[in-house]
Amino acid sequence: MKPSDNPLQVLIIHGPNLNLLGKRETHIYGKTTLDDINQTLINLGSSLGFSIETFQSNTEGVLVERIQQAIGQIAGLIINPAAYTHTSIALRDAIVMLNVPVIEVHLSNIYKREAFRHHSMIADIATGQITGLGSTGYEVALIALAKLVLNKDYCQNI
Ligand code: DQA
Repeated sequence: MKPSDNPLQVLIIHGPNLNLLGKRETHIYGKTTLDDINQTLINLGSSLGFSIETFQSNTEGVLVERIQQAIGQIAGLIINPAAYTHTSIALRDAIVMLNVPVIEVHLSNIYKREAFRHHSMIADIATGQITGLGSTGYEVALIALAKLVLNKDYCQNI
């Protein structure tokens, strides 16, 4: 079987309220919808040799369960935990168990916003964080993930 017959799985998780992208606070989050973002990532992923699954929930426990199901099944995770970024030890504990590269993405620059958004429960266990690049941040994350997964020593010790 050729490698391309068995693409590596990448999971992309979107947290609460991101289902309303395109309608929600467009001056902060832009007009691109979640469907548009996901379709772009599926196309980019396939050109990088990944099979992309996208998942969104507004519920913390549902997100934890989806991450648990991914243990041992995925090559990498891209996650925008949205408001749970700032509160969820449960999400953090689930992500730690994955043992694969994890990239945290935020559409807005959380460090330019209210103080309560400056702390991320995920940042210190993620491989990296991209914040403030809008929907392009997800594409940058996927390209970085390809390098991390396919070229194992890329940035691993930084
Ligand atoms: C967000 C930033 C969070 O603070 C906020 O709660 C979100 C979206 C972002 O993508 O900029 O819902 O994660």
